Amino acid sequence: MKLKKINVNGITTDNNIFLAPLAGFSDFAMRSLCISYGASLTFTEMVSCKGLLYGNANTEDLLYTTDDEKIKCVQIFGNNPDIMRRACELPSLEKFDIIDVNFGCPMPKIFNNGEGSALLQNPFLAEKIISELKKTGKRITAKMRIGIETGKPLATDFAKALEQGGVDMITIHGRARDKIYAGPVNYGEIAKVKQTVFVPVIANGGVFTVEDADKMLEETGADGIMLARGALERPWLFSELCGKKVTVRKNEIIRKHIEKLLEKFDDRTVAVNFRKQICLYLKGEPNSSILKEKIFKMKNTADILSAVDDFFLS
Ligand SMILES: Cc1cc2nc3c(=O)[nH]c(=O)nc-3n(C[C@H](O)[C@H](O)[C@H](O)COP(=O)(O)O)c2cc1C
Repeated sequence: MKLKKINVNGITTDNNIFLAPLAGFSDFAMRSLCISYGASLTFTEMVSCKGLLYGNANTEDLLYTTDDEKIKCVQIFGNNPDIMRRACELPSLEKFDIIDVNFGCPMPKIFNNGEGSALLQNPFLAEKIISELKKTGKRITAKMRIGIETGKPLATDFAKALEQGGVDMITIHGRARDKIYAGPVNYGEIAKVKQTVFVPVIANGGVFTVEDADKMLEETGADGIMLARGALERPWLFSELCGKKVTVRKNEIIRKHIEKLLEKFDDRTVAVNFRKQICLYLKGEPNSSILKEKIFKMKNTADILSAVDDFFLS
């Protein structure tokens, strides 16, 4: 794919391949792994502004970062400009260079609360959120969808409102809210946004291979690509997109990933929480269902690593 640097209002990334915010997955360890393969910008999973302000216990883990992240980006969600700005002024967010606002989450509990993708129907409020957040002096970016209902595009007007508010970069997921994460990506709507705004536009959705990435850039004219599920299944896809040859030894990648998590969490927590990630690493591996079943009963990482080694090396 055609690599280039992206200038986010004065911060320049090494390339144009980013890791998406992914609730339950894009923690510090996954972000570090993706950076080691060439991701130049990574995002925390979405964090509730109300949760931040009212000291919700689990936000500390979500905000944890390492020095691997040269540019630190947090994604937030909410719908009240004042609460959102106050959350972003908390000391716990000081270390972040970029604050990304979620305008895409399709989940009912977020949508029905008027947050995430529900804001797509309220460009006036979205503009206000961005302009209020700009008062923090941070770079403010946005991640949006092409619309709420397939066939009823609203992305260009919405992107214009974000730009009016002072947004510094827009990522656009090329599916409407009603499709959640399934089905084809609408390149045409992403292209229209790219033609409408002056800030960098990053395209997202359905990129699992180098060919997908090439097609996405060609059809949309976007400045860069954001990988989501493609990176969770194959974090080394970043290297492939950078044109590097990679020798994939999944057992070693799994070991590296687990070791990184153990830098912060205790062994049992890692063993239990890593189960969902291991299923993604094992996707497409013939005869891996017995291994998955075994791993789901394991409560320490030594047992998991030994089972994984046995599977891949025997
Ligand atoms: C498990 C999961 C969690 C996600 N969490 C977030 C999130 O916290 N914030 C966000 O903006 N998007 C989130 N997304 C959406 C992804 O960032 C991305 O837009 C979507 O998966 C489409 O890209 P893909 O087709 O390459 O996977 C999530 C998606 C999945 C599958």
